[in-house]
Amino acid sequence: MAEQALPLRRYLAANAVVLAPSYIALAALYWDDDLAAGPALVAAAGIAVVSIVLVQRYLGSLARFARFVSELSGDQEPVMPRLKFAPATEELAAAAATLAAGWRRQRASIDNLAASAQAVVDGLPDPLIAVDRQRRIVRTNRAAVALLGPMVADRDLSTALRHPTLLSAIDSLLVVGDGNFIGPDHATVELVLSGAPEVDVIAHARRLPRAAADGSLALIVFHDTTALRRAERMRADFVANASHELKTPIAGLLGFIETLRGPARDDVQARERFLGIMAEQADRMRRLVDDLLMLSRIEQHEHSRPDAAVDLDRVLAGVQDLLQLKASSRKVAVELEIDPALPLAIGDYDELTIVFQNLIDNAIKYAKPNTTVRVTARSAVEGRVAVSVADEGDGIPATHLPRLTERFYRVDTARSRQLGGTGLGLAIVKHVVNRHRGRLDIQSSPGKGSVFTVTLPAGTGRE
Ligand SMILES: Nc1ncnc2c1ncn2[C@@H]1O[C@H](COP(=O)(O)OP(=O)(O)O)[C@@H](O)[C@H]1O
Ligand SMILES: [Mg+2]
Repeated sequence: MAEQALPLRRYLAANAVVLAPSYIALAALYWDDDLAAGPALVAAAGIAVVSIVLVQRYLGSLARFARFVSELSGDQEPVMPRLKFAPATEELAAAAATLAAGWRRQRASIDNLAASAQAVVDGLPDPLIAVDRQRRIVRTNRAAVALLGPMVADRDLSTALRHPTLLSAIDSLLVVGDGNFIGPDHATVELVLSGAPEVDVIAHARRLPRAAADGSLALIVFHDTTALRRAERMRADFVANASHELKTPIAGLLGFIETLRGPARDDVQARERFLGIMAEQADRMRRLVDDLLMLSRIEQHEHSRPDAAVDLDRVLAGVQDLLQLKASSRKVAVELEIDPALPLAIGDYDELTIVFQNLIDNAIKYAKPNTTVRVTARSAVEGRVAVSVADEGDGIPATHLPRLTERFYRVDTARSRQLGGTGLGLAIVKHVVNRHRGRLDIQSSPGKGSVFTVTLPAGTGRE
């Protein structure tokens, strides 16, 4: 440790204080003639030499002690100096070092606490922002940064969120009158965050009973309600679509009933024709209601996974028989190509029958006459089985593919109705496949045809 020069004035003053009593005593002895001038001068010189050395050492120790104490408040732990000429100072230095170590430990635990508080806030799945009494951002978590982008601490909340309703709601929480908060202690605001895609959120703001150590006074937590809103919209659309689908045949039936009661009462030929159409309409309604019931039944237990071993060979042969008449009336051949070593699929026999009935029925309906619908079943990777239904029809333009499995979604609604479709077949297929933890892939080239492939988990062997 480099010795620092002592301030001269302090050094002289200390020497003067130490020498003064001895010199006064020597002077008194000299004046009383108890001491001759010579010895008095020798004594004064000796005392001066010893005192000057002692004072210098002592003051040096004090200076080292002062430097040690000031270094204790820094980040590093300084080495404790030896202070031989000032033992009391050495004790003080030891006490100060203990105090500083305690301090450092406390500071480390405060830092740890702050880090854990931030880790907890960061771990929250919902975005959170804390603001102080001036509405400045104090703390944010990772989810908030993901939702709103990076935010700068100490800036006003409006720099991160320009939503007047939310900002004024926060202001109302922070209003002070007579030293107390006079506004409500919580507020809820619904907002739409612009961007692609837009995000619907509900912001819950709450004022804390008193400001936290970091200055946080109000917490704002955001809940993403986009999925909920979409589900609400879908439910509303579904009811509207289903009602609309039923309304048309009902209106048709009522119209024919009116006609049969009135103008066509005695017209036998017209009656036969109208009754035929009425039967068709009633059949359409029956199909629609059957499909709706089927969809709701599958949805109800979509989360439970079927676990029976199903022989797809039997399922596909059964569907082929069922649709044989329809296929031949449309001059379409249905060919099965089933791998002889095809493992059993894990699933539900009746539901898988419905899946392939819908897919093969679509292929027959949308195929060109005098073509073949090929149904291929084979083993697939990762212990699965894949069944493809390929037709040589008009195909489906790529823009429609992502929405094809939505309820009532059709590429050509009039054509689908004319062919007796309800627009629910592929929605049913998708739900069943989901329940089976399987996959539905659709490939289609307009003008050439489509291939619908269902992949299902396979069992360990054949029956
Ligand atoms: N094999 C296919 N070839 C061409 N288009 C198809 C095929 N399968 C389904 N589609 C299209 O997908 C729509 C939805 O199919 P689906 O849900 O089974 O309803 P639909 O009752 O009309 O058969 C159909 O209306 C049709 O436009
Ligand atoms: Mg269909």
